[in-house]
Amino acid sequence: MITHFSKLTLQTVSIQGVHQVYADRLGFPISSQSDKQITFQVTPDFRLTFVEVYEPISPAHIAFQVPYSLFHESAKKIKESGLLIVRWEDGHDIDEEKGRLNLYFRDGDGNLLEIIAHEYVSEEVVEPSTPLHVLYLREVGCPVESVPVFTQWLKSNLSMKTYEDGDIFNFVISGTAHIVATWKNRPWIPIAMKALPPKMHVTFGTPDQTFLQKVRRRFEKSNVLFHSDAQELTFVKKGYSFSVIHTPEFAPDIPSKLQLPLSIST
Ligand SMILES: [Fe+2]
Repeated sequence: MITHFSKLTLQTVSIQGVHQVYADRLGFPISSQSDKQITFQVTPDFRLTFVEVYEPISPAHIAFQVPYSLFHESAKKIKESGLLIVRWEDGHDIDEEKGRLNLYFRDGDGNLLEIIAHEYVSEEVVEPSTPLHVLYLREVGCPVESVPVFTQWLKSNLSMKTYEDGDIFNFVISGTAHIVATWKNRPWIPIAMKALPPKMHVTFGTPDQTFLQKVRRRFEKSNVLFHSDAQELTFVKKGYSFSVIHTPEFAPDIPSKLQLPLSIST
């Protein structure tokens, strides 16, 4: 199964601007940088890359999971960073609901970023990274024409799961990775931001090479176009570019140890 997001590549109109936000203000360690691209090693298992382009940016929505016990510390760092904190209509920013805390903020390209914490997530499993105490990248938002069609495709081809099957909004989950499948006409909370599909490359990780072969066979059977080598399978779905890569260093039992509801029985 897919256990996590291994890498995410987003577009930017300024590498220097990205540096100022993610390195200078948020303290994310840089793993490589050139004139055209910058990569942050956000956690040992997740890299975030920005590629400079000469075109308009459609902002992405991504969420970082942080430990519940450290959430307010992470939120304080974001508030002190000078980045734009996004508020709900009634003026509150940190939102709390049944053992879940979150806070939205924005980077220089307008991407809608989020830190989120759940009380049920075990804190002894993964070492928090960066000054924000990131455990893993939890969410990547994918606005689509049809949430049910996209959801079903992810479930049947990539063995992802859902808690429920909503028509306009769905978390499609495997391990720690949550694809936020949302209808294009449903704005992002909490600022009713238009859900434009961002140009991005989403890389899922799996420590299970046989899973990679299974997905390849499914694609061949249903005539899905893809590129592949022994370690990576790349394809485009609904305008989004995806990969599944073999990540042998990622312990397969991390999602279940984290007590993630859909991973506990697998
Ligand atoms: Fe979110």
